[in-house]
Amino acid sequence: MALARREFDAVVVGAGGSGMRAALELAEANLRVAVLSKVFPTRSHTVAAQGGVAASLGNVAEDNWHWHMYDTVKGSDYLGDQDAIEFMCRTAPEVVYELEHFGMPFDRTPDGRIYQRPFGGHMQNYGRNPVERACAAADRTGHAMLHTLYQRNVRAGTQFFVEWIALDLLRDAEGEVLGVVAMEIETGEVLIFQAHATLLATGGAGRIFASSTNAFINTGDGLGMVARAGLPLQDMEFFQFHPTGVYGAGVLITEGVRGEGGFLLNKNGERFMERYAPTAKDLASRDVVSRAMATEIKEGRGAGKDADHILLKLDHLGAEVIHKRLPGIRDIAIKFSNVDPVKDPIPVVPTAHYMMGGIPTNYHGQVVVPDGRGGDQVVRGLYAAGECACVSVHGANRLGCNSLLDLLVFGRAAGRRVISDLREEPHKPLPSDAADRPLARLARLETQKAGESVAEVSAEMRRVMQTHCGVFRFPDSLAEGVKKILTVAERAQRTGIQDKSKVFNTARVEALEVDNLIEVALATMISAEARKESRGAHDRSDYPKRDDANWMKHTLWYKEGNRLAYKPVKAKPLTVEPFEPKTRVY
Ligand code: FUM
Repeated sequence: MALARREFDAVVVGAGGSGMRAALELAEANLRVAVLSKVFPTRSHTVAAQGGVAASLGNVAEDNWHWHMYDTVKGSDYLGDQDAIEFMCRTAPEVVYELEHFGMPFDRTPDGRIYQRPFGGHMQNYGRNPVERACAAADRTGHAMLHTLYQRNVRAGTQFFVEWIALDLLRDAEGEVLGVVAMEIETGEVLIFQAHATLLATGGAGRIFASSTNAFINTGDGLGMVARAGLPLQDMEFFQFHPTGVYGAGVLITEGVRGEGGFLLNKNGERFMERYAPTAKDLASRDVVSRAMATEIKEGRGAGKDADHILLKLDHLGAEVIHKRLPGIRDIAIKFSNVDPVKDPIPVVPTAHYMMGGIPTNYHGQVVVPDGRGGDQVVRGLYAAGECACVSVHGANRLGCNSLLDLLVFGRAAGRRVISDLREEPHKPLPSDAADRPLARLARLETQKAGESVAEVSAEMRRVMQTHCGVFRFPDSLAEGVKKILTVAERAQRTGIQDKSKVFNTARVEALEVDNLIEVALATMISAEARKESRGAHDRSDYPKRDDANWMKHTLWYKEGNRLAYKPVKAKPLTVEPFEPKTRVY
């Protein structure tokens, strides 16, 4: 089938924070930029980010980027690349002030500066005591950020393609990426978006788990496209469980609650975090807090009739603070657990929240693959930023409020790199088979008479991931998980849809999304089974300790044969002395 084609300088897939920050850079440089989004841009998942964006502004207490860098390296359990972490923490104040000047409605301190609150793992003086580093707009920071970036993009002339799903990358024989094939959800029309630069900003894939804070749109589309194009996914075994998802619903309750002074209680009314993290307590890093909560539940000290959750107490903050600083989570608690936190504690459990791994990039946002000599080689024409990318600044565990920062810093950096890489030349001719893969995927759904149910296959995937690859990981269970997820992946190749209509056919969209989720689930389970140590969010009962001698390395998973390879961590920062690995205590 000959497809219609449109040409742009750059195509950005995804209109969350990183996609829109990158697009803004491009549009302001007068480039022709297309942004494809499955939803209206301000409904992208960044809208759900609550507590804040990290930057060492020092508006409330003394702070500097070096302390922020130390916390991030330590938080990553020494798997983060220190060049990228330095770049992010040094750039943080600049990108936050830039956002302020774009019109972002931050909360204010009494003297008019950007309001900052404490967040897990962010400390003063190289880990001494918690510091106010999360720059916040109440508990709706992502919402405010997304609206600010959208408005700036409209002003700059970015062209949005709303309710379009990208299907696959276009590559030539040399491996250069020449754009994407995408489908308009409203009409079912399939189109080639040809571009000198393709920037993936498709966010996370928390929907591989049964209990997740992630939106339904978080289906790892960029990762699926990259995997099918034969490129690796990095460090996929590291999936963050946020300590406070609403019990039973999974919706996020911001860490900002604990930043404002809320704390966790077990069924005996005990502030158990004092036992697990004597200094940082409830503001230890997320992997530490989630494991402590899971241990309390496992050992019979969970709350409720089934002793299966933990209580988040904040009534002592008073109605005024809750209404002013945490209005969103009050609404969420009332809606999803029928609890008014002004009076009663919120029932919470650790819930899948963030993917530390992703598409390997350098800190310029260029997608990289191993060069065969121990270094990286750039994939021409392809860039990634935000949660779908693995720079890697978060390593084995991300600190809260570093993700909004990541998407600003690396969205902007990727946009800038695209601009400097662009050459004044006509678009390359497309190979005649460039669109074969996405067309074959669509044709299969079109012609399939009977097949596996998309809903059943995806439900089984979520069950397997939740059961076999959760907060605590056990060797037999991981091995069984690998077998089960391989079976689910086989079933996913035979999915069928009853409704073959073109207009707003969400069944077709869901089937295409499951193709992507399955790649992410395979990468996660197989990488986790292979890593024989405990580090950050990856906690194995049979290897309870971090093993720097053998495992201080990044995992690369390739779809072809589910092959794994490894590459070194970049332990050398750009301008300062490295932070050497040590035992991580909070
Ligand atoms: O807890 C939160 O507000 C989430 C923030 C984050 O994931 O960075």
